[in-house]
Order: sequence, then C-alpha cells, then structure tokens
Amino acid sequence: MPDVAAPALSTAPVKPYSLALRLWHWANAFVVTALLTTILFLYVILKMKTVGPEFQGVLQKEGVTFSRDQVRGLTRIISHRIWDWHIYLGVALTVLLVFRVVLEFLQSGAQRFSARLREAKRYFRQAGSDLRDNRHSLVVKYLYIAFYLMLVVMVVTGLLLIYADDVEALDKIEHEIKEIHNFTMYLVIAFTVLHIVGVIWAENTKNRGIVSDMVNGGQA
Ligand code: HEM
Repeated sequence: MPDVAAPALSTAPVKPYSLALRLWHWANAFVVTALLTTILFLYVILKMKTVGPEFQGVLQKEGVTFSRDQVRGLTRIISHRIWDWHIYLGVALTVLLVFRVVLEFLQSGAQRFSARLREAKRYFRQAGSDLRDNRHSLVVKYLYIAFYLMLVVMVVTGLLLIYADDVEALDKIEHEIKEIHNFTMYLVIAFTVLHIVGVIWAENTKNRGIVSDMVNGGQA
C-alpha cells in the first residue's frame, strides 16, 4: 500500500518526507508492534488464563497444595508486569499521536498529508490513461486516514482504561471500553498486514525504492 508522493506544490526542492515524519513513522511502527507483542505474550504465548492451573498441577506433583486464588496471585505478578509495559508503550503511542498532529501544522506545505490528499483528489478528478494509479493513490490515502482514526480510538480508549479503576463513571462502562479497544486492535492488525503486503508488492512492481524513501526522505 505505497503512498506514491504527488508532485510538490511549491517550487522549492523539498523532500517528500521530512526527517520528523520519518522518525515518527518508524517510532510509531516500533511502538505499535511492541504493543501488539504484549498482547501476543499475554493471550497466545504465555496464555495467562491457563498458566495458573498448570502451575497448580506441577506444584501438586511435588506435594505442595496451592489454592486457585494463591496461584492466581502468583500469575498476576507476571501479567501485571506485561500490562505495565503495555501502559508505558500506550503512553508513548499517545505522545507520538500528539506529535503527529502538531507536525501536520509545522511541516512545509507540500509535505503535509492534507496537501498530498488534496493533490491525489485533484489527479483523480483528471481522468486520464493512468486513472488506475490515481485511484490507487487516493484509496491509499483514505486508508491512512482510517489508520489515524484507529490510533485515536486506541489512545482514547486506552487512556480511559488507565483511569477506569479510579473514576466511578468509567468503571461502569469499562467493559464497553475494552470491547472497543479490543475490536480496534483487529483493525490495526488488518491495516498493518495490508500495509506491509502493499509495500512489498509496490517495491516489486512500479514503485521501487519507497522503503528507502521513508528512510532518506526521497528525491527532493
Ligand atoms: C496498537 C495499539 C494497542 C493495542 C493493539 C492494544 C491492545 C489491547 C488489548 C487487546 C487489551 C485487552 C482488553 C481486554 O481486556 O479485553 C488492552 C488493554 C489495555 N490497554 Fe491497550 N492496546 C493498544 C493501545 C493502548 C494505548 C495507546 C493505551 C494507553 C494510552 C492502552 C492501554 C490499555 C489499558 C490500560 C488496558 C487495560 C489493562 C488491564 O486490564 O489491566 N492500550 N489493550
């Protein structure tokens, strides 16, 4: 899903991707991957729900009897540590999202996402022999908007969950907040897979070098 840079609006030679945007992109990719990894450990690799009874079984063979609550107390030590990391990374994602919004206003005109979107819409309206490429470029940008919205939902629901135990009104709707947070995670995973597949496909077809553009900023 490559974002093929539209020609710059201004005549000054600016790289399509500013250094700040590139740093944001890779930091965001790292933090989202790390957040997903915490969930992978909790629900797939360690399977915290089943690890308690397994501990109990092993201890029983050694003649040590632990009640279900005692074992749960022990396994919670592990899951709390992972949740702590989830929250640190969640706060990092919040900071990155705020940074991204501020960056949109600080970047030079042609580097702004809004300018790229406007250009893509303009090219799309001009029906031509390469209309398919223009359509693709526009669809990709709408997908990025969808991804930014996903980040907003993840950050807002995540922050609400942090305070859910301390604020009564939030405590009452904690279950619903978790459902939204959970569901959006699947959308984030779907976007991430689509994005990576799209970039690999583009690198092997018409848009070679788009990954290095996101490293060096691209041709000014
Ligand atoms: C890609 C981003 C994220 C993913 C994939 C993700 C995934 C998840 C999942 C699957 C849960 C479990 C929900 C449940 O129990 O049903 C969860 C819980 C939680 N998340 Fe996230 N999350 C992300 C971002 C964030 C952010 C940005 C924050 C904070 C700013 C955050 C804070 C929390 C908190 C506080 C909980 C509850 C932990 C607990 O139950 O002790 N998450 N997250």
